[in-house]
Amino acid sequence: RTIYLKDYRPSPYLIETVDLDVALAPENTRVRSRLKVKPNDDPDAPAGPLTLDGEKLELHSVKINGTPINDYTADDQSLTITSPPEGPFEVEIETTCNPQANEALEGLYRSGGIYCTQCEPEGFRRITYFIDRPDVLARYRVRVEADKREAPVLLANGNLVEDGDLDDGRHFAVWEDPFPKPSYLFALVGGNLACVQDSFITKTGRAIDLRIYVEPGKEGRCGWAMESLKTAMRWDEERFGLEYDLDIYMIVAVSDFNMGAMENKGLNVFNDKLILARPDIATDTDYESIEAVIAHEYFHNWTGNRVTCRDWFQLCLKEGLTVFRDQEFTADQRSRPVKRIEDVRLLRARQFSEDAGPLAHPVRPSSFVEINNFYTLTVYEKGGELCRMLHTMLGEDGFQAGMKLYFERHDGQAVTVEDFVAAMADANDRDLSQFMRWYNQAGTPEVVCRFEHDASEKTAKLHVTQVHAPSPGQPEKEPVPIPLRIGLVGPDGEDMPLILKNGSEVPGGLLMVTEREQTFEFADVAHRPIPSLLRGFSAPVKLSSPLDDADLDFLMRHDSDLFNRWQAAQTQAMKRLVAMARGEGEFVPDVREFALAVGPTLTDDWLEPAYRAAFAVPPSELDIAQEIGADVDPTGVHKARRDLRATLGHTLQGDLQRLYEDYAVPGEYQPDPDSVGKRSLRNTALALLAAEETEDGVKRAQTHFKNADNMTDSMAALRILAGLDRPERDEALETFYDRWKDEQLVLDKWFAIQAQSTASDTLDRVERLRRHPAFSIKNPNRVRALIGALAHGNPLHFHSADGRGYEFVGESIMEIDGFNPMIAARLASAFSSWKMLEPGRRAMAQQMLERIAAKEGLSRDTSEVVGKMLG
Ligand code: ARG
Ligand code: ZN
Repeated sequence: RTIYLKDYRPSPYLIETVDLDVALAPENTRVRSRLKVKPNDDPDAPAGPLTLDGEKLELHSVKINGTPINDYTADDQSLTITSPPEGPFEVEIETTCNPQANEALEGLYRSGGIYCTQCEPEGFRRITYFIDRPDVLARYRVRVEADKREAPVLLANGNLVEDGDLDDGRHFAVWEDPFPKPSYLFALVGGNLACVQDSFITKTGRAIDLRIYVEPGKEGRCGWAMESLKTAMRWDEERFGLEYDLDIYMIVAVSDFNMGAMENKGLNVFNDKLILARPDIATDTDYESIEAVIAHEYFHNWTGNRVTCRDWFQLCLKEGLTVFRDQEFTADQRSRPVKRIEDVRLLRARQFSEDAGPLAHPVRPSSFVEINNFYTLTVYEKGGELCRMLHTMLGEDGFQAGMKLYFERHDGQAVTVEDFVAAMADANDRDLSQFMRWYNQAGTPEVVCRFEHDASEKTAKLHVTQVHAPSPGQPEKEPVPIPLRIGLVGPDGEDMPLILKNGSEVPGGLLMVTEREQTFEFADVAHRPIPSLLRGFSAPVKLSSPLDDADLDFLMRHDSDLFNRWQAAQTQAMKRLVAMARGEGEFVPDVREFALAVGPTLTDDWLEPAYRAAFAVPPSELDIAQEIGADVDPTGVHKARRDLRATLGHTLQGDLQRLYEDYAVPGEYQPDPDSVGKRSLRNTALALLAAEETEDGVKRAQTHFKNADNMTDSMAALRILAGLDRPERDEALETFYDRWKDEQLVLDKWFAIQAQSTASDTLDRVERLRRHPAFSIKNPNRVRALIGALAHGNPLHFHSADGRGYEFVGESIMEIDGFNPMIAARLASAFSSWKMLEPGRRAMAQQMLERIAAKEGLSRDTSEVVGKMLG
């Protein structure tokens, strides 16, 4: 059944308070719920019976105002009280559920003996009957009891108000959350957990009790997460003026979790891989992810929790905005240009392909079958880009004024994207009505630019056209407002002033494109400049630029906008990669020239090492495939990229060797941005030196592996060695396994590195790993490490010409769908670009999708995704 945004109606009833009494037991958890219910006086709210959502619950009794009733109906999705009393009343319901049997990891489940919950978006209905929608905000009081040995720690949202011992070795705790919240922010945890404690003094001088709960013995790995939390709390005060509201902030790390983390009010639940870190087990990238996700969940306290979503179509309201905030946070902590490059790389590789394929949907979708399928790159990352465009158009002060008004108007409410954009518009006295199209139209706009210079008139013209390809259900689209940041780079490499024909200067080089076709005219342009377009990637579009090889080569060396300098190199690389992948002509001399142009930036000691490292990474195989667009041969794409990297390594050998020597980071491992940048440059040099698989390169990687005293260096070397068709590979993988076989998070890396390997026998190995005693199909991290890494991270072997990659991933999807539909559906999206493939692979991918679609009892999640892909 499809649900439509246009059908939204306010809830017939509201719930003011929830009193939960939860008696935890592995297979038979008893939940008593007392709800204060009242009819919704919103004139748009329909009248009628009281229907509560509930799934996988055993119902024992229903009382209204203290009296047991029988006039209700219950099925596997809901409980309907046919004739509730008029006016406010109390409903009491007793149910039981089975956390031990819950392998979907939604609702209440057990992970390594720890009881925990995941309620967003619709998991609360698996704990108790409720009006499980985000526009029903209630105050919660939660009593939890459990066997004291099994669960010495009992947590829920808010403040602890009471605890104590009971008979029979049981005990209890009562938690109260003073802030009304939607059910998706509910959380409850029980188990044997160790606690790491710290505190934070807010800008108004309040002391906040900070706690991270982990499996006992892992306390020593929480330091970075705790530091990150404090940094995030300070940053939100300084940059957004937002202070934490409760007196306690708790985070619990669990090892079975469908996603990254969850922002439950005052009680975040995290995938433990985003908490636990120590130099020997976590890479620089892990450290950065931990910092970013801790911040993301913390930032949700205002953007998501204090102001929440009216309905799930508005998911981007909290996710896009919070992604934008966490991106800005990271940019402020680390290198801003490098962060921008990383974000754009992800957007292009994953979101652009989503936007171009059968699963394309607007940032705010207008319909869905299963909301879990809409936690997508489009909602999160493109949603973040929309907030970034508003920020670009309004400036930091204007954007902050909009945020201030948004909170003034909507604190404590469940609102829509329109409400957010209205606050931005009203605070800045701007008309943003055209901007709403960005939220409602799917697909990546293409921006085609043409540039003309008239030397005698000393003028220049920039013609801009925006093109919108059709998306599923959206044949026609309207033009969107595009903030196009540009510069005109003079022959000396300096930016020329940007003067419009009327004599006014363009502030910040920011042009606003609002029409389908538009021309901008500039005055005082004596010499032909090179236009640097879409600086900082000021809009999520595909740019079709007028620049030739010589222009790009110039920008690659001189553009003052570091993003566009990187972009020029990417564009140059892409042209060659596409030609090579298509097997067009003689490429080597051309590629050598490109490599030579990379050299000056790579070795420029004035630039940050992290930036220089990013500069030398060519576009991903996914990017190249998309650029080709049709009849893609993933093997050809892979070979092209491999050859380009080998040429880079060969051509720049001397420079790379010097970088490798010079950028060794002495002393004890530190995750600070400076050391991270140096390691990144050095390991990039190492990888390029080994790209040709020369004896020398392999030896160097082996030595690097042996000498590594931290996981970053160790993984950098292992990634190289694991890709070889040589005995050095098995040697390294075995050494690594022997050392780390008892560390689950490191073991995930060991699985993933093999699943992503380009070595020729990767599929045999992956099949063997599937039967490895350490593999578990029930653990999402392990599934992502093996099956996900192959499906999403190894185009060469996933798209193996004999269909074995599809077979392996397809079979896994069908198996996983039987117990965890959400993970199955996410894996299935790996097939989403199947129509772009060459005919042989296309037919095999289609066959596999058809087999999945035909599977009996297929979940709503997977059938929606697969159905859309088959169209
Ligand atoms: N709100 C969480 C975050 O963005 C993600 C939770 C998604 N969970 C899910 N079952 N889809 O941090
Ligand atoms: Zn989020």
